[in-house]
This record gives sequence, structure tokens and C-alpha cells, in this order.
Amino acid sequence: MLNGKRVLLIVAGGIAAFKCHDLIRKLRGQGAHVRCVLTDAGARFVTPLSLQALSEDKVYTDMFSLTDESEMGHIQLSRDADLLVVAPATANILARMAAGMADDLAATVLLATDKPVLAAPAMNVRMWSHAATVANVETLKKRGITFVGPNDGAMACNEYGPGRMSEPAEIVTAIEALLTTSSALKGKRALVTSGPTREAIDPVRYISNHSSGKQGHAIASALARLGADVTLVSGPVNVADPVGVKLVKIESADQMLEACLAAGKLDVAIFAAAVADWKSAKPADAKIKKKPGAPPPALELTPNPDILATVSKPGAQRPTLVVGFAAETENLVANAIDKRTRKGCDWIVANDVSPATGTFGGERNTVHLVTADGVEEWPTLAKDEVAARLADRIAQQLGRPRAVKAAE
Ligand code: PMT
Repeated sequence: MLNGKRVLLIVAGGIAAFKCHDLIRKLRGQGAHVRCVLTDAGARFVTPLSLQALSEDKVYTDMFSLTDESEMGHIQLSRDADLLVVAPATANILARMAAGMADDLAATVLLATDKPVLAAPAMNVRMWSHAATVANVETLKKRGITFVGPNDGAMACNEYGPGRMSEPAEIVTAIEALLTTSSALKGKRALVTSGPTREAIDPVRYISNHSSGKQGHAIASALARLGADVTLVSGPVNVADPVGVKLVKIESADQMLEACLAAGKLDVAIFAAAVADWKSAKPADAKIKKKPGAPPPALELTPNPDILATVSKPGAQRPTLVVGFAAETENLVANAIDKRTRKGCDWIVANDVSPATGTFGGERNTVHLVTADGVEEWPTLAKDEVAARLADRIAQQLGRPRAVKAAE
């Protein structure tokens, strides 16, 4: 997907710099050309030699190198690139970018460029939430810098929280989103739901499921790559925010419904979220206490609103195309056909979520696309390939003349 694209990778000084090796490999595997700029601090974590060996290109480190400056020059470095990627983007380099400093080669190239810039932050959780970093990131976003991550997780400093650099595969997806846009869905408004919902039992306990958001987020990215104006309504997940997408974070099914209805008039809506079917009938205001010797409390459940069925209802506000998912552990296709009719949607993407398939939380998915025309069996694909294929199908469908659709 990145054939012939030129990425200038700026490697700053953080422990996550080791992930750049894999990032370079993955980018080159997609056909991109990668050239590296390494800061002094970055060179404490990875060597120019390793970056050079993997990129098969010269690594630039020194602003005042007579040979580098005469052969290439810091302006030429950015002129030659389609995209600049800062990974890891440390608190220090983000601060220097926000302040417009030009005190080393990396900062100077970033100041001199008119190309898109993608930053993959990586730092200690308290550095990330420090008011100075928050303000710097805000400033950079306003100037058009795109961010991927950081993710939540365990960090090298033995702390846990947001600050982990996105995984190389997530950075590659963000790069694809920036470099491979097409206009097949330009002017179309799309809604995607993703991830699990959480239904409170009391202030500290909830009902939820294992959805990671990988499939739904990949669909949002794929639609944005085709030029759609995408709103992604997501439950709590730990995957990178997709680039170029309006993200609305919610917790419960009620909040998801409200956010979906607030999205306005849509051309297409895709419901990949694993919405909890039930919620506690009476969530407690205070933590339910465990009383010695007393039986466990009974949990009374009540149904959640069916978001897919609500949005599928006929009417002026109904999106042109509504796509539901069916997560099944038995009778996959028969249940999906039945679900399509019951919920009133146009298509159903059916996937087997039996534990042995690893669909929930995994990287791959095997789906059947159920439409009014019949059932298509797709091969097992990476979730972003499922997403790209689905987005292409949606673009084809929305591009069809209305008379053809009315006849279906
Ligand atoms: O997030 P990942 O780890 O990548 O996993 C992806 C996935 C398995 C979650 C995804 O591919 C998937 O199957 N999503 C739908 C999960 C689900 O809730 O399926 P269902 O068969 O229970 O629901 C049918 C459809 O109704 C779904 O489109 C669902 O979003 C929707 N629904 C369900 C209940 C409800 N109250 N409101 C809804 O809108």
C-alpha cells in the first residue's frame, strides 16, 4: 500500500526507539522507502549502523556535518519525503517542536518542512499528563501535526498508564491513512461503532466483554482513507486513535446510542461494537459491600437499547446503508441471516467468535458478508484487510445509481 512512498523517520531518545527497527522493516515490506534522522539522545538507544542496515540508506545525525550538508542538506531531507514520522516522539522533542526550536538536525528538519508530520509519543505516564506536554500536544495538533497513540500499558519505568509508544503495526496503519487517501467516499458521512460497552453494577464494578476495538477502529481508518467524513463511537479500548477520524468515547450502551443519534444524517453506519445486551436494572450509587456470611447479592438485569435496530428503522434519518455485525458461536450463517431481518439492516458481517478462533481481541477475522443478494464467504484476513475490503464494498454500493439500489 505504500509502494514508492518516502518516509523520513526521526528517531528521538526514548527506550521505545528499539521499536523503530520493526517499524522500518514493516514500512519497507509495504514498499516504502525509509530514511532516518537520529538525534543524539536517540543514538543512546539505537545505533546509526542498525538503522542504516535496515533502511539501506544513510542515517543523518549531524546538523553541522560538512559532507551531509553539502550532499543532502536539512531542507532537502524534508523535500525528499512524502511524510515525516517522529517515533518515538519524546516529551523533549515535542516541546522543541512546539517552541519552534532548531537546535539540532531533527528539530531543524521539522521546523523547515511543509510535509505532513506524524508523531508517535512515548514517555513516562506523568510526563505525558504534565500540563506542559498537554499544552505542547494541543499546540502541535492545532498546527496540523497528527498523533498516533500513545497507548496504555506497562512501561519500562515500571509504571502503568498512557505513554507507551504505539506498536509498529499501528504506526504503519496511521502512515497509510495519511499517505494513501483516495476519493471514493469523498463527501460521504460515515458512523462506526467499536469496542465493548461497560454497564455499571456499582461505581467500581461493571459488565463488559473482550472486544478490543481492533476491527471497528480498522473500519473507521479504512473509510477515512477513502475520503469519508467518519465519526467513530467507541467504548473503552487500548488501541491507537485512528487518524483523520472524529472519535467519540463512551462507556455504556445508552451513551453509545445517544452518540450515534447525535451523529446526524449519514450515508453509511457500521456497527462493529460488542454492545452489552443487558445492564444492571438498578446500578448502586455506592460500592456494594460484601457482608460476612450473607449470600452473594442477586444481579437483576434489564435489556439495553438495540442501537443497530434503532438506527435501521425506516425514516428520513435512516442512513442509506446500514451494516451490522453478527458475533456467533454456532450456526453462524443461519443466525446472521436471521439477525439481518430482525434488526432491519442492509448487510451483516458475520464472524465466528468461539474462543478457538481468537476473533475477540485477535489480529485476524474470518467473515461472511450477508446481503440481500446472498452470502459471500471471505478468506481469513488481517482485521485491517477485512476493513479495507468492506470499505471498498461500501464505496461500490454508495456509488451505485439509486434506481439499481431500489430494485434490490
Ligand atoms: O473488537 P475486536 O476484538 O476487534 O473484535 C471484533 C468483534 C468480534 C467485536 C466484531 O467483529 C463483532 O462481531 N462485533 C459485533 C459484536 C456483537 O455485539 O454482535 P451481536 O451479534 O451480539 O450483535 C449484532 C449487532 O447488533 C452488532 O452489530 C452489534 O453492534 C449490534 N448491537 C447489539 C446489541 C445492542 N444492544 N445494540 C447493538 O447495536
